[in-house]
Amino acid sequence: QKRVPFIGANWKMYLMPDQVIPYIETIKNQIPKPSETQVMIAASPLYLWPLLKHAVGSDVIIGAENCDYHDTGAYTGEVSPKALAEIGIQYSIAGHSERRHYFDEDPTIVNKKVHALLRNQINPIVCCDETLVRTETNDGVHWVVSQVIAAFKNVSSTDALKMMIAYEPRWAIGTGITASADEAEEGCALIRQTISRIYSPEVAETVRVLYGGSVTPKNVKALMAKPDIDGVLVGSASLDPDEFLNLIHY
Ligand code: G3H
Repeated sequence: QKRVPFIGANWKMYLMPDQVIPYIETIKNQIPKPSETQVMIAASPLYLWPLLKHAVGSDVIIGAENCDYHDTGAYTGEVSPKALAEIGIQYSIAGHSERRHYFDEDPTIVNKKVHALLRNQINPIVCCDETLVRTETNDGVHWVVSQVIAAFKNVSSTDALKMMIAYEPRWAIGTGITASADEAEEGCALIRQTISRIYSPEVAETVRVLYGGSVTPKNVKALMAKPDIDGVLVGSASLDPDEFLNLIHY
């Protein structure tokens, strides 16, 4: 079965309210058919509802950048995955490197978020990072494998098929230092092998694996040409709608 390419923007905490609607209006009718490439914008919870409203009739997917692992309760300031589902969100990032690094999200928390998303029928996009030190000591691969194993803990194979995994080396995020297409392929292939070991070759052949880290309109083609890279998660180069459109139509 062919894996449909996936290109996701992760706006992080960059765009301000006056930029959001013009952005979605610029791109919403200029993206490929979803059978050719799926395009997602992951945005702050503040912007999700207006974005969903403006994306009606378009194939742009509006996704969340993060959520809590409780559905409801006394968790001041958190975002409920149940509420996300109720407003129509179908995809959410979980365990982005910045969440792991700045907000102390350990692999157990990321796994709880995966389960929270799945029970609310939201497809998790789990990010696995590796640090510069670990890469330099050649330990990076073990770190990525352990994050993949932890993310899928107690997830059934049926639910695993709803997930995507993104390989995002921390040293490549927001630095302008992209992993070479070969390095990115190596990381994504390792993730696929790990999924195959946890579940089966069939599950591994179906789950989409993405690369993220300083992807630009210039380097996206080489990355997307690799057999184990099914898509990209884009931060900086997604902030300008025209640049993101160039990247989508690489
Ligand atoms: O989720 C996106 C990644 O963190 C990549 O960000 O494209 O700014 O390096 P970046």
